[in-house]
Amino acid sequence: MLNSLTLHNWKSFGTSRNRLQFGGLTLLVGPNASGKSNALDALRFLQGSALDFPLGDVLRGRWEGQREIWPPIRGQVVEAARGSEAVFALESDWRVCVDGHYWKCHHKLRVDTCGEVLVGSESAGYGMSTPVFDTEAPSIGASGGPQPGGSIKVALRAKGSGKSEVRSCFATRSLLGQISDGGRVDPQGIRQIRALQSKLREVVFLDVQPARMREYKPENIPSLGTSAENISPKLSGLSDEQLASVLEWVGELSAPELESIEFDRTQLREVMFFLQEKRGGRISARSVSDGTLRYLGLVTALTTAEKGSIIVLEEPDVGLHPARIHLLARLLETTTAERKIQVIATTHSPILLAHLGPAALADVVAMDRGPDGATVCSRIGDLEHFSTLRDSKQLDHLISTGWIERAL
Ligand SMILES: Nc1ncnc2c1ncn2[C@@H]1O[C@H](COP(=O)(O)OP(=O)(O)OP(=O)(O)O)[C@@H](O)[C@H]1O
Ligand SMILES: [Mg+2]
Repeated sequence: MLNSLTLHNWKSFGTSRNRLQFGGLTLLVGPNASGKSNALDALRFLQGSALDFPLGDVLRGRWEGQREIWPPIRGQVVEAARGSEAVFALESDWRVCVDGHYWKCHHKLRVDTCGEVLVGSESAGYGMSTPVFDTEAPSIGASGGPQPGGSIKVALRAKGSGKSEVRSCFATRSLLGQISDGGRVDPQGIRQIRALQSKLREVVFLDVQPARMREYKPENIPSLGTSAENISPKLSGLSDEQLASVLEWVGELSAPELESIEFDRTQLREVMFFLQEKRGGRISARSVSDGTLRYLGLVTALTTAEKGSIIVLEEPDVGLHPARIHLLARLLETTTAERKIQVIATTHSPILLAHLGPAALADVVAMDRGPDGATVCSRIGDLEHFSTLRDSKQLDHLISTGWIERAL
C-alpha cells in the first residue's frame, strides 16, 4: 500500500504542504487546475521509472517498433518541474510484503531535467532511516551525483554490520531496477526493493472508455485493459458467483431491471457480452448506455482486483445519475475494505463525498493553490473544524459552496 507521496517542485507543487497521505480509499478533491491530476501524473512517473525506462522516455513517451508502449506524461520534460525549476523530487512511503512479512519502505528520487533527464539522487530503504541504497551516502564522499559519462555512484547496504558496497549505475534510469545483490550486499534489502518495484509496476491506471468496450474481443484475454476494453472476455471468464455479484451492483444502477449477463461467442473465438433485461430485450455491448458501461467497467475492475492491488481512477463519478452516486460510494468503500485493495481517485462530486462513511471522508485529500500559486494539500480529517463538516446534515451543500477550500 502507498502511505504517502510528497511532491517537491513537481508541476504545480512547491516545497511546502506538498505531502499527500493515503488511506484504503482516498478521493482527491479541489477546484479545476488545483493539482489533482498532477499528483496522479507523479505516480505514473514513478511507475515508468520502476519499469526501468530511461527517465527522459518516461516523460516524453516511449515507442518501440513504431508502436507507442508508454504514453507521455502531460507537460513532458520541460513542464515536469515547477515554473522555471529544472529539478523535482518525488518521495513516497510504502508498506510492502516480502516473504509474508510487511515492511515500511521509503523511496526518494530527485530528477534533473535541465539537459538529458538524469537521476540527481536516489535512495530507498526500510522506514525513514535504514537505507538499502543511497547515492548520497557518506561512504561515497564528495565524488557523488551524476558523472560526466552518465553514471552515478551508489552505496548499497551490506549484510550484518559490514561496510557498504559502492557501485556505479546509469544516471539515465532509476536505480530501483539496476541494483542487485551479490558481494557484501544485504540480500534482504534487495528483496524489499524488488517488492517495492513490482508494487509500482502493478499500479493500475484505469480510464474506463465506453466507446472501447462495445466490440467483440478474443476470448481468454485475462486483463480488463486500462480502458476496460476487454470487458467482454473478462466477464466471460468470471465464475457464476463473481458474475452474479457484478450483475447485482450494475442492476442497482440501471433503470431497466436486469436479469442476467450473457455472451455471444463467434467461430473466430471472439466474445461479446449482452445484458438481458427483465422486461425488455437482450441488449448487446454495442447498445448498452455509456453510464452503465462506465459503471460496469469500474465494478468489474474493483470486484475482481487481486488483494493488495492499487487502482488509480480519474473522476469515476462521471456519467452517473446524482441519485445513483451513493452506489459508487458504497462500491468504493466495500471493495477497498473487503478485498484489501487501495483506490486513489479524483472527483468533483460533493454527492460522492456526502455518501462516504466518516473514515473515508476523513481520508479525502483536499487540494487548492496557496498564496504563492503552488498546490497545497491536506487530508481533510486533519483540517480544523473537520467535525463541523462530518456532522453536517448538508454536507454536499457545504462542499459545493467551497467549505473545504476555505478550511485549507
Ligand atoms: N510545470 C508546471 N509549473 C507550474 N504549474 C504547472 C506546471 N504544470 C502544470 N501546472 C499547473 O497545473 C495545472 C493542471 O493541474 P491538474 O491537471 O492537476 O488539475 P486538476 O486539479 O486535475 O483539474 P481538473 O479538475 O480540471 O482536472 C495547470 O493548469 C497549471 O496551472
Ligand atoms: Mg484533472
